[in-house]
Order: sequence, then structure tokens, then C-alpha cells
Amino acid sequence: MARDLTQREILTELEPVAESCVNRHLAMARDWHPHDYVPWDEGRNFAMLGGTDWEPEQSALSDVARAAMITNLLTEDNLPSYHREISENFSRDGAWGTWVGRWTAEEMRHSTVIRDYLVVTRGVDPVALEQARMAHMTAGFDSGIGQADVDSGAGFLHSVAYVSFQELATRVTHRNTGKVCRDPVADRLLQRIAADENLHMIFYRTVCGAALDLVPDQAIEAIDTIVENFRMPGAGMPDFRRNGVLMAKHGVYDLRQHLEEVLEPVLRQWKVFERNDFGPRGEVVRERLAAFLDDLARVRIPRFEEQRDRALARERARA
Ligand SMILES: [Fe+2]
Ligand SMILES: [Fe+2]
Repeated sequence: MARDLTQREILTELEPVAESCVNRHLAMARDWHPHDYVPWDEGRNFAMLGGTDWEPEQSALSDVARAAMITNLLTEDNLPSYHREISENFSRDGAWGTWVGRWTAEEMRHSTVIRDYLVVTRGVDPVALEQARMAHMTAGFDSGIGQADVDSGAGFLHSVAYVSFQELATRVTHRNTGKVCRDPVADRLLQRIAADENLHMIFYRTVCGAALDLVPDQAIEAIDTIVENFRMPGAGMPDFRRNGVLMAKHGVYDLRQHLEEVLEPVLRQWKVFERNDFGPRGEVVRERLAAFLDDLARVRIPRFEEQRDRALARERARA
């Protein structure tokens, strides 16, 4: 049986794919400027400059919209952590290095525009927001990828599989957050971000698909590990559970969306359940993945939705 490829070998083999994906990305990406999306004339000074500090009544956002905006923003704020993950597990050479730099620069716009919007419109408490950012960034994001994974090639494969799903998950979340904000300005800026996330997803999905062709058994092991252990990057941020529950309950991001709008479309694109290039090791993993998805669809999603419907009915009865 052929031996596994090392990280270095996988990166070298896939460099031409990365190069064509970078070129396609640069041709497709449209330049945009965060300042264009912010309603500056709604802004005014805070107390330190002679104005008034934030009060809850100033926010026009619902509880759900505030929870979603804060979660999305803190997630985007943690960019230095994701940059570190990607740059440690990809290469800094050639097309890989070009991509890491370009992707990081594009991502930075997302936190810039959301924060400017929230501060100018007084949508959330800026002091609490800053405290949450400090806590979240200080803790950082840890994918759990260790040196042994990097040496074996699993580090790169885990990273690229994770971001394939995660970019799509952020796209869905930003789009649905735009809807619950009930403000056309917010909706427009979140749609703009979602369009970026979609192009990012296409880059990673294409590279991960090429990895599946190159090292099917190694790649499906990484994909299965990521799917079975998937956590949004916000896990661990202040109030993540409370905000996550609110978002799930009101359709910003729930388990059915996770399965039907994130996991299934990407797995379909990779033809995971149609391919015949897995060895015995890959076949076992694919079966495990199929069982996991089946449990999600038949047991966990219906159970979540029943609980959610009961909770929403109780809230309506109280209102
Ligand atoms: Fe982003
Ligand atoms: Fe992104």
C-alpha cells in the first residue's frame, strides 16, 4: 500500500491548484470600501468629547439582531488567530503565501465595517463590545492542530477542510443576520461580506477537493474529523452559548441550516459519497461520516426543532 504523503509533499503537489485558484479569485473579487457602507450622518460624539454615552434605548436592533451582530463581529475580530492557523499550516511560499496575505487583508474589512456600523448607529454597547473583544482575542482560537499533525500532513488537511465549511457557515450567518437587523443599510453591508465569504469558500473547497483526489484516504479522515467535531470559531467567546441559542432559535444559524446549507453542499461538491478511489481505510471513514450525517438528519435536528418550537410557543404565550 502506498505510504501517506507528508505535509510538504501535499503542499508541493497542490501548489499549481493554489495558483490557479488565487488567479481566479483575483479576477472575480470586486474591490470595495468599508466606509461606503456606514451611515456616518447617524453618528454623534460620546461623553468624552462632550456628547452622550451609550444607553440601551438608543439601539434599534432586536435582541436576536444584537446577539448575531456581536457574534459575527467577534468572530471576524479574531483574525490574527486564524491567520496564524492558516500561515502555520499552509506554506508561505509561492501561491500559498500570496493567498494567505490576500485572504487576511480581505477578512480585515469585515470587522472594520461591522464595528463602524454598530458604533455609529449605537446598535450595541460599545464598552461591553470592547471588553468582549479583548477577552476573545486574548484567548485566541485554537484548532487543536499539533506539531505531529503538521508533520503528517493532517494539519494542512484539517485546516483546509475546516475553512471550507467555516467560510460557508459565515456566509450563511452574515446573510441571515442581515435579515434579522431589519435595516437595509445593515443588510447591504452584510450581503457584501457574505459575497467575500463565498469566494473564500470556493478557494478552500477547490483546494480541499484537489487534496481528496491526491490523497483520498488522508483527506477523508481529515474531513470526517472536522465534520464530526465542527465548532463555530466563536465557541468560547463571552456569551457564546446564550447568543448561539438565540441565533439558532430564530433561524440565523441552526442545525438544519448547518447540515443542509453548509455540510451537504460541500460534501456533494467533493462527490464524497460517489467516489470509488478510497482504500479500505477511507471506506471505513466514509461509512462513519454517513452514519454521523444520518444521525444529524434523523435524530438531532428533529429533536432540536421540537425543543425550539416549544420554546417559541412559550415565549408567544407570555407576550
Ligand atoms: Fe469574514
Ligand atoms: Fe472569509
